[in-house]
Amino acid sequence: MAHEVVVVGSVNADLVVRVDRRPGPGETVLGSDLATLPGGKGANQAVAAGRLGGRVAILARTGDDGHGTLLRGALDAAGVDVSRLLVSEGPSGVALITVGPDSDNSIIVSPGANGRLTEHDVLAARDVIGAAKVVSLQLEIPQPTVVCAARAAADAGARVVLNLSPAVAVPSDLLALADPLVVNEHEAAFLLPGREASDEPETLATALLELGPKSVVITRGPDGALVGTPDGTASVPSPRVEPVDTTGAGDAFTAALCLRLARGDDLETAARFAARVGAAAVLGEGAQSSYPAEGDELPS
Ligand code: RIB
Repeated sequence: MAHEVVVVGSVNADLVVRVDRRPGPGETVLGSDLATLPGGKGANQAVAAGRLGGRVAILARTGDDGHGTLLRGALDAAGVDVSRLLVSEGPSGVALITVGPDSDNSIIVSPGANGRLTEHDVLAARDVIGAAKVVSLQLEIPQPTVVCAARAAADAGARVVLNLSPAVAVPSDLLALADPLVVNEHEAAFLLPGREASDEPETLATALLELGPKSVVITRGPDGALVGTPDGTASVPSPRVEPVDTTGAGDAFTAALCLRLARGDDLETAARFAARVGAAAVLGEGAQSSYPAEGDELPS
């Protein structure tokens, strides 16, 4: 049976240290023991949607190192179809993550094998991509690969969800395929010269729609999300929770959104569910390790 969600994106080993404060230039601080956890925006989305019971596949590349084995195992354990998880010689992607006292995170990504996921790989997986209900894309893999995957999906009638993370400039024809474009307030401001992340989310959503995406979702952390379509905007609340670690919460949100869209929800209904999944994802350490499973009680 065809997949509900196909993720084309990154897989990283997350090397996580908790710190009381981050070092300035030339400074050393001591942190917690190192935790090595499966992550990467693409893999996080695939695992989150798989845990929620979705039929999910991932097109991605690991390296041929121990991290690659860890990453494949995590995807497999979540029920994700890894038949298109390719292996390159050399290191897997790695994310160096510090988690601060406010449960906030700072991340540096070394792309490793993610940088070797090519348009050729996309074309070789066109059968899987084209048969999906929703194809989910982020920007930790080469941009030509993202553009190729978006076109392959759209040409075959699959819905394209584009998470502009990390924020980089993208061609307008890629934005035009997004339905929705998913951004946080900082990524929204990045796309909108002259606007600030602190601007009214309705204003940001309206301005983003003028860039061409069919719809937009602005994620707002504890403040929920703002959904924008040509018919108007709607605010979606987030349950109030005490965060432990916010790493990967946005990926869980996007995964849940994709899954509900694949199952026929309208965008606002899908975003209401996604906000609850995103809230659940901040309640534990790490990204994937805190994702809820199908049937788990979600914060409300
Ligand atoms: O969104 C969180 C993810 O960003 C982490 O898992 C890390 O791998 C980086 O890709």
